[in-house]
Amino acid sequence: MNMSHEFAREFRELVNLAEDFVYGPYRQQREPVPEQELDRDRGAVRRLLEQEILACNLCPLSGGRTQAVPGVGVLDPLVMVIGEGPGAEEDRLGEPFVGPAGRYLDDWLRAIGLSREDNVYITNVVKCRPPGNRDPEPAEIQACRPYLERQIQLVHPRVILAAGRIAAQFLTGSELGIGKLRGREHSCYGLPMVATYHPSGVLRNPDWRRPVWEDLKLLRSILDR
Ligand code: URA
Repeated sequence: MNMSHEFAREFRELVNLAEDFVYGPYRQQREPVPEQELDRDRGAVRRLLEQEILACNLCPLSGGRTQAVPGVGVLDPLVMVIGEGPGAEEDRLGEPFVGPAGRYLDDWLRAIGLSREDNVYITNVVKCRPPGNRDPEPAEIQACRPYLERQIQLVHPRVILAAGRIAAQFLTGSELGIGKLRGREHSCYGLPMVATYHPSGVLRNPDWRRPVWEDLKLLRSILDR
């Protein structure tokens, strides 16, 4: 090998070393992150979001609660159920839909092959109990809105089920009653959404059982297509 070739080879090695020094860390960053690590990160983001909700005092509902109720269920569920707001039992136990309406909701989910343990995530439009189970005020809904939007993004369900008028109006941005919003597929944050009557309303009004069953079948057909 002559001197100029030898010099060129050494020079190339030096350039490679310098490139590794400068770009090495970035090359490493570009390597794909293993799926398990991503899941661990989403779990951590979920816990942080829950802690934020538990400590929230952005609206007057925080003053009357026993505890805030962030949500339960799995990430990447088939269905994300969104109700109105915690009731007395939920406020006491810190879990959504655990009172009579919740047990009825579990029956609905079971009827279309779903369960909160396996393939559902459940939360509410507002995370703190409105006193006397009154409707949440628009300002309370707006204060809680970023939490629900971040949950939808993080949980990433296949389909959303809006349980009742408050959730259906919030998710569609419409002022129509639930009787007009139910019975068809909507698009919400880029996801399919079905609205139906609230389980506690159906417990009081058995005439709504048939339309609820139609809505649940619509939900199942969206999952199956
Ligand atoms: N009703 C709701 O809308 N949400 C609950 O968590 C319980 C009852």
